[in-house]
Amino acid sequence: MKYKILNILKENDNYLSGEEIGNILGISRAAVWKNITRLKEMGYEIDSVSNKGYKLFDNADVLNENEINYDNLIYKAELDSTNEECKRQANAGCCSGLFVVCDQQTAGKGRLGRSWVAEKSSGLYMSMLLKPDIMPVEAPQMTLVAGIAIRRIINRLTGLNVEIKWPNDIIINGKKLVGILTEMSAEMEKVNYIVVGIGINVNMAGFEGELKEKAASLYIETGRKFKRSDIINEFLSEFKLCYDEFCKNGFESFVNEYNEYCANVNKAVKTVGGKEEISGIAKGVNSRGELLILSNDELVPVFAGEVSLRLSDDRYI
Ligand code: ATP
Ligand code: BTN
Repeated sequence: MKYKILNILKENDNYLSGEEIGNILGISRAAVWKNITRLKEMGYEIDSVSNKGYKLFDNADVLNENEINYDNLIYKAELDSTNEECKRQANAGCCSGLFVVCDQQTAGKGRLGRSWVAEKSSGLYMSMLLKPDIMPVEAPQMTLVAGIAIRRIINRLTGLNVEIKWPNDIIINGKKLVGILTEMSAEMEKVNYIVVGIGINVNMAGFEGELKEKAASLYIETGRKFKRSDIINEFLSEFKLCYDEFCKNGFESFVNEYNEYCANVNKAVKTVGGKEEISGIAKGVNSRGELLILSNDELVPVFAGEVSLRLSDDRYI
């Protein structure tokens, strides 16, 4: 009932009395008042004026299922990790397109066993379950496609010229704003499912410890607070476009755009964590999403799966 009242208030710019709302929904004024109180407790800014009624100021950053325009959705106030929840749902038989979001993530994961620091109600923690008809070796391309969608929407919503650090970070001024973690369940030649998890630093005012130097948030960069639901809804429509294109024409369609916004291009880089260290000048990705590094006059393709990229002098970017 509270969301029905909320949606009526969202559709009205003027004050609506308890009686008017009650008549629309067939409930008493007291019941309207009770639900309005609950909405206020959730963080919605609702002005109540006697003899006039209620009016919503729809700019509070309140996250819940009602704010997300998507049917195949799991929203939880708290989860260990949206990727883990997505995998649990996939193993229980959930279908492609399931989207999991939470307000607080208590055991967020980064790549290569690292952890993702999640501040309650300030960041975005979300994962999408996908079952594309691709080979397991192509799965890391999903990270790059998600990166393209995220770069587009951040640029559109904030005006920031964010860049992509191959393979899985979105950065601004050399600091990390977004991390993407793609996980997969597969057999030799068949993908069972892929989970693409995305963490975005949205309204954090600052960071602690090592992240002070390394991390950025949209708020720090723009001085503006954002409604996380606006970012989610924008992401869902952009990612659908990108995913459909990927399923139809593969990663090839994205190569030019990826390279245009890839922060590593023409930088002296080295790989860390792979079988052998490759160093040279990054030249952009190929149609398989591998990073081409010009090393000893040879273009060496680097597979995203198991490596991190650093500048030759060990800096992050
Ligand atoms: P690469 O992405 O090139 O492998 P990386 O250092 O960014 O290098 P990842 O494993 O991708 O490593 O990302 C995890 C790292 O992200 C952590 O080691 C931590 O330094 C950083 N990190 C964790 N939480 C956040 C956050 N909320 N914002 C920005 N960075 C974070
Ligand atoms: C990285 O930079 O290494 C990737 C970080 C990915 C973090 C997101 S937050 C939502 C999803 N759930 C997780 O546990 N991790 C990803």
